[in-house]
Amino acid sequence: MPILLALHALAAVIWVGGLFFLVGILRPAASSVPLAERLPLLSNAMGRFFLWVWIAIITLLVTGNTMIFVSGGMAAAPLYVHIMQGLGWVMFLLFGHMFFSPWRRVRVGLAAGALADASRAMNKLRFFATVNLVIGLVVIVVAVSGPYGLF
Ligand code: HEM
Repeated sequence: MPILLALHALAAVIWVGGLFFLVGILRPAASSVPLAERLPLLSNAMGRFFLWVWIAIITLLVTGNTMIFVSGGMAAAPLYVHIMQGLGWVMFLLFGHMFFSPWRRVRVGLAAGALADASRAMNKLRFFATVNLVIGLVVIVVAVSGPYGLF
């Protein structure tokens, strides 16, 4: 159980911390770079990050559900775990949409030299990444304060 919890927390740190860096640090720092250089840079950074997000999602699902299973199933789980699982699925689905729709359009747009299309899709990615960052921060607050009775 402690190892599962540690892996679970590491996966959450990598995913939510990565979102914070992408949305809060890299994107604003790159805003002065011309579009033709900024979009490939951001797309490249996202490609590297998204691989880790897939690993984080698989880790969160496997460790989270195993912890629930060994501690008596969902019926015995406290409210904060239900909230975490529900919001977790919203995050997983949003990421799946980001990966298969706007991020694909960024890459197709860049490959075709259609900067305006790629830029529109990149703005969508930024929006969804911001939403997932906010949900992720809420999930972390719920998860770490839950055992102390906040939820
Ligand atoms: C299918 C989705 C998920 C399930 C089933 C799940 C399940 C769990 C369980 C059973 C615990 C242990 C609770 C306890 O110790 O009482 C936990 C802790 C935690 N979860 Fe999740 N979780 C899920 C998704 C997420 C997501 C998406 C995040 C953040 C991005 C997250 C972040 C955390 C954190 C930070 C902890 C506390 C770790 C600690 O205390 O060190 N979980 N989760």
